[in-house]
This record gives sequence, C-alpha cells and structure tokens, in this order.
Amino acid sequence: MSAGAASAALAEDGAAADGGLPRLLPPPGHGGNLASHLSSHGPVPYRGSARALIPEVRAAGLTGRGGAAFAVHRKLETVAAARPGRAVVVGNGAEGELASHKDQALLHLAPHLVLDGLQLAAEAVGAGRVALYVRHDVRARARLDAQLSERYARGLDRAAVELVSAPARFLAGEESALANLVSAGTAVPRFTPPRVFDRGVDGRPTLVQNVETLAHLALIARYGPGWFRGLGTPDEPGTMLCTLHRADGSVNVAEAIIGTPLAGLVDSPGASAVLIGGYHGAWVPADQLPWLTLSNASLRPVGAFTGAGVLAALPADRCGLVESARVARYLALESAGQCGPCLNGLPSIAAAMGQLAGLTNGGGRGGGRRPDPRVLENLSRWAGLVEGRGACHHPDGTVRFLRSALQVFAAEARLHLQGRCTATSGRPFLPIPAGPATDADWSSP
Ligand SMILES: Cc1cc2nc3c(=O)[nH]c(=O)nc-3n(C[C@H](O)[C@H](O)[C@H](O)COP(=O)(O)O)c2cc1C
Ligand code: SF4
Repeated sequence: MSAGAASAALAEDGAAADGGLPRLLPPPGHGGNLASHLSSHGPVPYRGSARALIPEVRAAGLTGRGGAAFAVHRKLETVAAARPGRAVVVGNGAEGELASHKDQALLHLAPHLVLDGLQLAAEAVGAGRVALYVRHDVRARARLDAQLSERYARGLDRAAVELVSAPARFLAGEESALANLVSAGTAVPRFTPPRVFDRGVDGRPTLVQNVETLAHLALIARYGPGWFRGLGTPDEPGTMLCTLHRADGSVNVAEAIIGTPLAGLVDSPGASAVLIGGYHGAWVPADQLPWLTLSNASLRPVGAFTGAGVLAALPADRCGLVESARVARYLALESAGQCGPCLNGLPSIAAAMGQLAGLTNGGGRGGGRRPDPRVLENLSRWAGLVEGRGACHHPDGTVRFLRSALQVFAAEARLHLQGRCTATSGRPFLPIPAGPATDADWSSP
C-alpha cells in the first residue's frame, strides 16, 4: 500500500483542535509540509524544563501505539530520572510487522507531528541524544533528512536528530534490537532485564516510543489531556491508526476512535475470520465482530489485543490454515537464532503447520497426502516448549498466533486431517516477503 492510499479518518470532518477526527492524519489534500503543519498546529510547544510535560501525559492516559500499550508517562518518569544529558530518546518507526503500514503512512503524511513529539519527549527526559529509527527506504529517508534540515534551520528543533535506518526484519523494531542497532551493533534482541529504559543505547537510559505515540504526545502538549480524553474510552483514551486489509484485497490506513465497533471498521462482508494485531496477534471468527470493539478491554476475553492496529479480514475463499502456515514459516525464518527453543522450535512448529495446511505434503491447500494424525498433538506440545523460553517475545507471539489459528480454524483442521480443504483460491492473502532474508540483513542498511 502506498502512503497515498491512507485515508485520513473514518469521520468526514473536524480538525485536531476541535476534538474530532482526524487528529493525526491531515485531511486529504493537505501535504505533510512544514508550512501546512505550522498553520494547523503552530510551533513546538516546549515547556521550558525537563519533566514539565509528564503530568499532562499521565493525565491524558496515553499508552504506546507500537503494540504493547504501555503507559507512556511511566517510561518518561523512569528515563527522566537519569543525570541531565545522559538519556537517549529514539522514535521507533521500524514497522517490522509486514501487515502494518500505519507508521510509514504517518511519517509520510504528518512527519512534523512525529518530529515535534520527538523534541518534546527529549525535553521531558532531558535527553542528550535523539534518534529517529525508520524502515529503510531511500526516498523516505531523503525526505525526512530535508524536513529535519528545514526544521533545524528555522530554529524549531532544540535537539539534533540522527536518522537511523532499520533493517527489513520482523524483529528490527523490538526495543532491545533497536537499542543494539542504534549503539552501532546489529538489530538482534537481547535478554531483559535490563529494560532499555534502564540500560539501552550505549548502556544509557533510553526512551523508545513508537512514532505514532510521539505524534499523540505532540497533540497532548498542544491541546491538553482533557482534549485527548474527549475521544476513546476512559481506560483507553484517544484514537489509533489502523491498517485495514479488507477481504476484497484493498488495504488502507485509517485513524479510528478507540472503542469503535469492529464491525463498522472492518466492513468486509463475506470474510470468514479477522486477524487482529498482526503476526503476533490472534484470529477471531468474523461472526464475533458485532460484539467486539477496537479496545483491549473488549478483545482480551477472545484472546486478542489491538497491538499496532492491524485488522485483516480473511476472504471466505481462502484457507485460514494455509495463510497461518505461510506466516508461521516466515516467523520461523525471522528468529534471530540466539535462543535454542526459538531457533529449533519455531522451524519444527512451522513445518508441522505446513504439513497440516497441505503446503508440504505434495497436494497444496490440504489436497494430496493426509498429514500425520499426530500433527495437532505435536503442535500443541511444541508450542508449550518454546513459550516463554526466548530472550524476546518472538516465540510467545508466534505461539499465540498459531494457537488462535488452530482454534478458529478447528473445523478446517479436521478436514485437512482427511486430506480435504474448503478453500477455492490458493492466492496468498497476508503479505510475506518473496524470499528469506540473509544474515547480513540484521545490520543497518
Ligand atoms: C517482536 C517485536 C517487534 C516489535 N516491532 C516494533 C516496531 O516495528 N515498531 C514499534 O514501534 N514497536 C515495536 N515493538 C515494540 C517495541 O519493543 C517497543 O515496545 C515500542 O517501540 C515502544 O513504543 P510505544 O510504547 O510507544 O509503543 C516490537 C516488539 C516486539 C516484541
Ligand atoms: S527468542 Fe528467538 S527471536 Fe528472540 S532473541 Fe531469542 S532467538 Fe532471537
């Protein structure tokens, strides 16, 4: 999906200042240039001292939009406790999740909100080093370079910002992998603790925030916590960007109010199931959508969570097991290969899943030879063996995704055990790279 395909909002009108949608993405036709940004939002509202913004962020209830929904004020407080000038702030725009496009869209359509948020976060924690970590793309990087130079020349930025390119790996945006790479290493996760807010880039306390989180922060600094809480739910206030994959194959990025009914958001008649939260997320049967909203409180009971806002409606003519097996194979190849259970366990799980789906038994899409009747039992046992056994959450996220697939597509799995499949199309739906990455791809491009 090109950034140009991003839709500004699900509501028709309203600007950030009046509390309606869109808040983050500018209305169609407004470019991401500095002049239009300044005319909409004015200059960066610096507070003039470290920590001053933190109580406002706490009152707003802002949580991270990179997947884990962690309270932003808690990380700000921890990192701000460092000696002045020692802390590091990194905006995370790696977007390693292949099914997500919202960070690239935001950086394309509203880069100055992200850059404002980066400056305000740096001021709040008294940072001595500031970086923006973005998925590698020559044109996008050149654009950001020019935007940073323009801001610096106009005296908008108090802290110089380094641009760091993220390798195109699923794990590149995991915060310890990010800290390793920005410290001039490779984007490989490390065991925690310590968490990066205690010891991150070059061993310094590091605030890592998703780029969308930074854009919300920039708006809270301007319009206040009450304005921010004007949309969303009391426990999950605000809006979030979602990448919507509709069953007809169209993909777009939309800004949605947290708590919005999912049925209206996904809008995909004929879908059999919806993948929520991306490749570490969970499948939910499409017939449950009328009871669910875009919020963790609503999704948690069905084993799902909003994550970074990926919602993918599986067309009824595709097989959910085949799609899941392809993603499992990709996720196994994306293991950073440091932890035994992950390195050995994920390929075994992916192979078993491939066999169940019919990808590896010669027939394709469940046709051909029947899978080993013990395949479900093996999958369940092996999943238990890798869970919680990695330096990072990659094995846990992969297992969550596969368990939900086996549950939601249980009837299909029984057919596959008999060598049958209900799918009428083998065309891949969820995005997967054409070929495996190489070891060199763990470094900055
Ligand atoms: C496997 C994995 C991949 C991740 N990839 C990203 C990513 O691409 N972008 C991102 O912002 N956060 C990513 N995260 C979450 C980060 O580790 C971190 O929590 C986040 O950047 C913090 O920002 P936030 O609190 O503003 O969400 C990933 C986490 C995991 C476990
Ligand atoms: S759990 Fe897997 S992906 Fe995470 S660091 Fe260990 S080997 Fe790498």
